[in-house]
Amino acid sequence: SLYEFGMIGLGVMGRNLLLNMADHGFAVIGFDKDTEKAKALESSATAATRVKGVVALEEMISQLQRPRRVMMLVPAGKPVDDVLESLKPLLEPGDIVIDGGNSHFTDTLRRVEYMKAAGFHFMGVGVSGGEQGARTGPSIMPGGDQEAYPHVKPMLEAISAKVDGEPCVAYLGKGAAGHYVKMVHNGIEYAIMQLISESYRLLQSAGLNNDQLHEVYKEWNAGDMQSFLLEITADIFLQVDDKSGQRLIDVILDKAGSKGTGKWTSQEAMDLAVPATIIDTAVSMRTVSAYKDERVQAAKVYAEPKIPVSADTRLFISQVKDALQFATIMCYAQGMAMLHTASEAHDMQIPLPDAVKVWRGGCIIRSALLGTFYKALKNAPELPNLLLNKAVADIVKEKEQNMRAVIVQAAQAGLPAAGFMAALSYFDAYRNEKLPTNLVQAQRDYFGAHTYQRIDMPGSFHTTWLHH
Ligand code: 6PG
Repeated sequence: SLYEFGMIGLGVMGRNLLLNMADHGFAVIGFDKDTEKAKALESSATAATRVKGVVALEEMISQLQRPRRVMMLVPAGKPVDDVLESLKPLLEPGDIVIDGGNSHFTDTLRRVEYMKAAGFHFMGVGVSGGEQGARTGPSIMPGGDQEAYPHVKPMLEAISAKVDGEPCVAYLGKGAAGHYVKMVHNGIEYAIMQLISESYRLLQSAGLNNDQLHEVYKEWNAGDMQSFLLEITADIFLQVDDKSGQRLIDVILDKAGSKGTGKWTSQEAMDLAVPATIIDTAVSMRTVSAYKDERVQAAKVYAEPKIPVSADTRLFISQVKDALQFATIMCYAQGMAMLHTASEAHDMQIPLPDAVKVWRGGCIIRSALLGTFYKALKNAPELPNLLLNKAVADIVKEKEQNMRAVIVQAAQAGLPAAGFMAALSYFDAYRNEKLPTNLVQAQRDYFGAHTYQRIDMPGSFHTTWLHH
């Protein structure tokens, strides 16, 4: 009567993942030093499932089948290392430890090595989908020790979301690949959320009220733009605040919080030398939003431009729709380009089609577009950028004019649309055979003798500039 899977940390995610596993017939045991949480695990279990909650780690470890399968869902950072230290003396060689939190990939890489040296298997596993997803079917991004994966695969496949009968989980590569893919997922999440919020402001400026906004997003979500984030956006506009009686959206302060995963994606993109400009912009815009007091002052200094967006509201809505689809594709393109480069740079061997496959269901960035991307990558797993795929290019070209029309109107009306602008700017730079960066090279050579390459002969050159 031993248990098949153990969980350390019975917060919202840990508890729900474990209950999900139990619902699929696995005997599970969870540990939390908080008695209430250990009790809540048992009391929220489905009848006739095998679920036990304990408050001593030793007790859980001693009741697990071997090799032991233990997942931890504790806050990222030091708590993860603390858990590993308390686990080590209790484990035996061959046991498998999984970190299911949002750990930084460099920490995961260190822990993979550290645990391996002690004879244990360690896997960093990204889990997306929030509370509901954890209970009914998350997207799961495992990476790390490949030897250990077959031991946890049946459980992860059972609990994951399914799309076209396929589980939204796959082994995503060596080392810290799982947490890396989850980090990039979150970067894309930040970017798409920023774009949707900008579209909201644009539509509001055209006079749409909350009921109309609900209708517009609901309609968009019903078509080929279908996505989880559009679905919840449509819902949000209907929610009534129980304190003021107003729509809740209108009483929520416009200062965005964050736990840092989007920032990590941008920092890492810089280190990798991969452009992730929409993600960068999304992170920066959350930061700008926090400067509320200064924004209030600045609003008094600078008048709003008086040029409104198109008076043809139906036309404008359709333009914003296309712009959002265009810009959203750019977000995925930047994220996937990042994974393409990182896979080799960090020796992770990430199977890109599988990364996209597991994002099709369960996670925050799930969308109909991912089906198109999956097809594109299945045929060309080494594709460096989604924009080079014909099917993707066809959608982009179809939306391009409306993207430009929206940017023009946003700029003239003085509406904040940094994410949209970043998306278009990225596209216009990426699709340009010739950039003005020859001048940057000339300047670098002028003031610093940094040398330049030529278009007509190989080698590097330095010039004694005429007027220096
Ligand atoms: C998910 C989410 C989740 C993340 C939250 C909060 O995939 O389920 O990415 O892991 O923690 O979205 O992120 P911020 O607080 O940084 O916005």
